[in-house]
Amino acid sequence: MSDTPLLAAEGLVKRFPSGVVAADGVSFAVRHGETVGLVGASGSGKSTVARIVLGLTRPDAGTVRFDGRELTTLPPRRLRPLRARLQFVPQSPRASLNPRLTAAESIAFNLRAHGWRRRDIRARVAELLDQVGLTAGHGDRRPAELSGGQAQRVAIARALATRPDLVVCDEAVSALDRSVQAQILNLLAGLQRETGVAYLFISHDPAVVEHLCDRVLVMRDGRVTSPSKERP
Ligand SMILES: Nc1ncnc2c1ncn2[C@@H]1O[C@H](COP(=O)(O)OP(=O)(O)OP(=O)(O)O)[C@@H](O)[C@H]1O
Ligand SMILES: [Mg+2]
Repeated sequence: MSDTPLLAAEGLVKRFPSGVVAADGVSFAVRHGETVGLVGASGSGKSTVARIVLGLTRPDAGTVRFDGRELTTLPPRRLRPLRARLQFVPQSPRASLNPRLTAAESIAFNLRAHGWRRRDIRARVAELLDQVGLTAGHGDRRPAELSGGQAQRVAIARALATRPDLVVCDEAVSALDRSVQAQILNLLAGLQRETGVAYLFISHDPAVVEHLCDRVLVMRDGRVTSPSKERP
């Protein structure tokens, strides 16, 4: 494992046309295999930082280096292969999963988008459903036929499908009941032990972050206000 961080964000600035400065000089790093929490009140800029890291929003200033490569200026064609290694779990899986696709089709879609061959996809989807604690029967269901927790398991399987190095989770358990939250957090921790994936875990709920993260960054008004505290 190298000393170069997996992800290094430096001086990220994002000002929206409204004048809101959602990111005001945000810097942080995520090392291979670790979980970094990003907490802060609603509107503090957490999702903006997530979107910049994922290449969905272009910052006005600053850089994002992923495995040593600068992402923010890469053309989409060159970003795509890196996106297989940098995946996303959104807040509301029922809303983010295509309602017309079954769970298995949603996972397969991500694999196909990253060039997986048809004959490898079926076995990989079965393996992923099992890894996230679902059955083949769940794979045949559409999002409306799954519970919130099951749908989030599908979103996690979809994100892990391409064997990413980093998964950005933006309020990934916020819409779930406490008991289901705990199950999903345990699942994420277990998958990390199995695969070595790193997480950037965003939540407005400090209790959730505390549970899972090696270090926690606190955002306020577009700035990281606390240096990341290392857990003993
Ligand atoms: N596309 C946009 N256009 C204009 N303003 C935006 C846009 N996206 C976010 N903002 C503003 O930027 C600020 C930060 O928003 P952001 O979504 O990053 O916060 P957040 O910390 O993720 O909040 P929450 O906890 O509610 O998800 C807010 O004031 C928001 O209104
Ligand atoms: Mg947000």
